[in-house]
Amino acid sequence: MKFQNDNEKQCFEKVIKVLPKLIKDKCNGYDELWGYKLNYEDSNEESLEYYDEDIARSLVYKICKGYQFEYDTVIQVLVDILKWRSKFNPLSAAFKESHNEILQSVGILTSYPDDEANKKIITWNLYGKIVKHKELFADSEAFIRYRIGLMERGLKLLDFTSEDNSYMTQVHDYKGVSVFKMDPQIKSCTKQTIAIFQKYYPELLFAKYFVNVPSIFSWVYDFLKSFINEETRKKFVVLNDGKKLGKYLKSCPAAQYEGVGKQSLEEQNVEAPRPTPYGLYLLEQQASVDID
Ligand code: HEM
Repeated sequence: MKFQNDNEKQCFEKVIKVLPKLIKDKCNGYDELWGYKLNYEDSNEESLEYYDEDIARSLVYKICKGYQFEYDTVIQVLVDILKWRSKFNPLSAAFKESHNEILQSVGILTSYPDDEANKKIITWNLYGKIVKHKELFADSEAFIRYRIGLMERGLKLLDFTSEDNSYMTQVHDYKGVSVFKMDPQIKSCTKQTIAIFQKYYPELLFAKYFVNVPSIFSWVYDFLKSFINEETRKKFVVLNDGKKLGKYLKSCPAAQYEGVGKQSLEEQNVEAPRPTPYGLYLLEQQASVDID
């Protein structure tokens, strides 16, 4: 963790100090962030065993950094994120619920441990393959639960204590999109997903590549970009030709993207990551409440 000055360090330590009270008073006791426990003074001793100080501090640092160490904003954002998580239940979307099979087939996670820093865990969204399946976007809630589930499974593969692997890279492949009108249902799913990522997943994206985007779709890019904050936008790269991607992501498949990977993307797919121990504990708790 690097601090530019004393103010940043003080803000961070102050947030850590108030966390237990904040969680108790403002978040209804919910203290899970991206699979990890934040409350180091939990009165539930069984749950306290899952507290990992290094990871918890790294996650709080991310929120502080994402909001320029502005104490009041950081506190508000933390409360908003934890409240949203307790309601949306992203762990369930990631590790418990089943999603539409076609959607599952276009969301892929790959792990390239020997690649550059923060380009090791990649989330692939092959949206070009589903542009004709408009029905998949009709139920925006189901789509969003699928997409958040994929995001959370990807986060599980990161190592929040490592500077080299605590951010993820994402790829959107639009191969197959020929005639494209911004269908209202696609637009609605896209806008809602973008808003959730912007609000509840700060400081997690390292780079985002949009590949196989014909130049006639630059208007779509310009339109969607307007919903994204400046910091995130700087991480975007648009490539008309998918074969250029290998220059940016070394181990991606040779056949599709001209990386050095011999396997296809589907073969590289990391099958069903497991929840973190704390995530599993929470899911088990929920299951026993459901049974009761
Ligand atoms: C085939 C039709 C398309 C579909 C189904 C689609 C779907 C989506 C979805 C669901 C998202 C939400 C963020 C995510 O899932 O990571 C998204 C974001 C985005 N899409 Fe597309 N999209 C389409 C076409 C395009 C085109 C042609 C472009 C032009 C480059 C584009 C650029 C973007 C941008 C800039 C974002 C914001 C990225 C972010 O928030 O991280 N999309 N798209």
